[in-house]
Amino acid sequence: MSLRPYIVGNWKMNGTRAMLSEARAIDRAAQRYMKVEVAVAPPYTLIHAVHREAEQIAVGAQDCHPGTDGPHTGDVSAAMVADAGAKFVILGHSERREGHGESSEEVRAKLEAAIEAGLEVILCCGEPEKTRKSGEQEEYVLDQLRASLPDTLDQAGERLSVAYEPIWAIGTGRTPTLGDIGAMHASIRTFLVERFGEQDGSQIRILYGGSVKPDNAREILAVAEVGGALVGGASLTADSFMNIALAAGEGDDQ
Ligand code: 13P
Repeated sequence: MSLRPYIVGNWKMNGTRAMLSEARAIDRAAQRYMKVEVAVAPPYTLIHAVHREAEQIAVGAQDCHPGTDGPHTGDVSAAMVADAGAKFVILGHSERREGHGESSEEVRAKLEAAIEAGLEVILCCGEPEKTRKSGEQEEYVLDQLRASLPDTLDQAGERLSVAYEPIWAIGTGRTPTLGDIGAMHASIRTFLVERFGEQDGSQIRILYGGSVKPDNAREILAVAEVGGALVGGASLTADSFMNIALAAGEGDDQ
């Protein structure tokens, strides 16, 4: 498994074919930033088109259904996104947990379906503001992970990343302190090693997400156990997104 920083753009519900020029620009820049692994998750409608443009970056989906096929109007299966060119899928994002009432049990079913379909998974977790205020954030996040992850990984550890995204930091311009990010990532690492053993548990990358921008990326990515970033708003232009990638590569433009 590559240990390069993993910088992933989550385009959320943004982007029509007009955005393909940004995807091309991201891909071209990524070819020069080889110290960093760059990926984007566009809406379903653009997965195939971005995949066709991309020579360097991986393309992913933002969700998938836990089933393989059948009467699920409006849903898309893991095999379908893989067929469209997705290499990974983001699962359990707070905007799905909150906006679509997704439980951790449902996220776990999706995760198992995605692994079965050969996809890599970025599993999201993160606490709401009131939980952070009450000081119960670690318990909350570890409970989410406990219920969203399978009991064993069966060699799939290298295909899994966890993204810690405090809900109150998403799209707000606010971030936890570096100390708070470090504390949460350390707890997640301890949990993963306890759950899956040293070998699998220590190789799962733990990304941070929530208001990552070019001007805070370098310090956040330098925190121990931060293996990359899941970026929303700042991934929508090649310029800001690739400045984050540049910061992740410590300025190396090789
Ligand atoms: P922002 O970077 O816009 O805060 O979004 C973070 C996020 O939700 C990525 O999945």
